[in-house]
Amino acid sequence: MEHTTTATQQGTSTKSQALTNNQFYTDVIAGLTSSPKRLNSKYFYDAVGDKLFQDLMNSPEYYPTDCEMEIFTSYTAELAKEITADGDAFDLIELGAGDASKSSHLLGYLIDKKANFTYLPIDISANVISYLNVTLPVTLPGIKITGLQGEYFDMLKKAASISNNRKVVMFLGSNVGNMPVAEAEVFCRELRNNLSPGDMVLVGVDLKKNPKTVLAAYNDKGGITKKFNLNLLERINRELQGNFNISQFDHYATYDPESGACKSYLISLINQQIKIGEENISFKKDEYIYMEISQKYTVEQINNMAKVAGFKPLNQVFDSKKWFVDAIWIAV
Ligand code: AVJ
Repeated sequence: MEHTTTATQQGTSTKSQALTNNQFYTDVIAGLTSSPKRLNSKYFYDAVGDKLFQDLMNSPEYYPTDCEMEIFTSYTAELAKEITADGDAFDLIELGAGDASKSSHLLGYLIDKKANFTYLPIDISANVISYLNVTLPVTLPGIKITGLQGEYFDMLKKAASISNNRKVVMFLGSNVGNMPVAEAEVFCRELRNNLSPGDMVLVGVDLKKNPKTVLAAYNDKGGITKKFNLNLLERINRELQGNFNISQFDHYATYDPESGACKSYLISLINQQIKIGEENISFKKDEYIYMEISQKYTVEQINNMAKVAGFKPLNQVFDSKKWFVDAIWIAV
């Protein structure tokens, strides 16, 4: 009898231990017990989230991908010329590679030109990395690829330990916009600290534009952005023993043209209590969870960001509408 009780308690404590040791769980509980409530948008990208983001990129309102795709298809030679410089061997690292749909144009061009490089995609999603490791050698024969799954700076350090080659770091899709400006500056400085003079950065940034255009991209009529946000609650249900009823939450997006901050929230439609593992979380009716920032920049702000982080801006490539820029920086 006593033995049975002990076994049950051990079972329970092992289960909660497994949750407590999980970074995703720790971050979710910290975020939902803070005031105001928040969740980190880096957790959007599980297999379902990856698929929803792909759908979003194909939605008529979500313009950033189309703009950057235009840059990578129309100005491939210019981009290649900037980053190959003196024709030495280099490591082409991509932070948050996703499906590499934009960078593959550049990769293909570099392979055709017999550039001596290794492609090192870094992504938080294990799903993405295994996909790239399997598909790219088929679609881009001859590519040297080493996929790295994990946090950006951990994997950047790992990349540095793999080879001494010059580094070119791509950070595309305005992923840098997922941080507030001050945090993005700290991020770029940390990026610089992980690089050496002569290393380069190719950063894709969404520019300030008509506020209605920006807002529509984060409030699409098809409701994919809403699903994309709600999927994080469903992911918590799936992976962290949560019991969110997603029909009791709505999506709210806002864009402030003055600061350039585009933000997403989930709004609780009722007073409700939910459970995540052993934790109880209460929501007041109309209470929000701050989900994501997608910061928009001016060209001047981007050049300034380069300088404060210890880079020199080398060049900028725009799409035809000038809605998006891929900037090339060199570490000084
Ligand atoms: C992949 C982070 C660049 O912020 O525009 C799209 C993600 N969120 N719609 C962005 C996203 C809502 C996207 N990034």
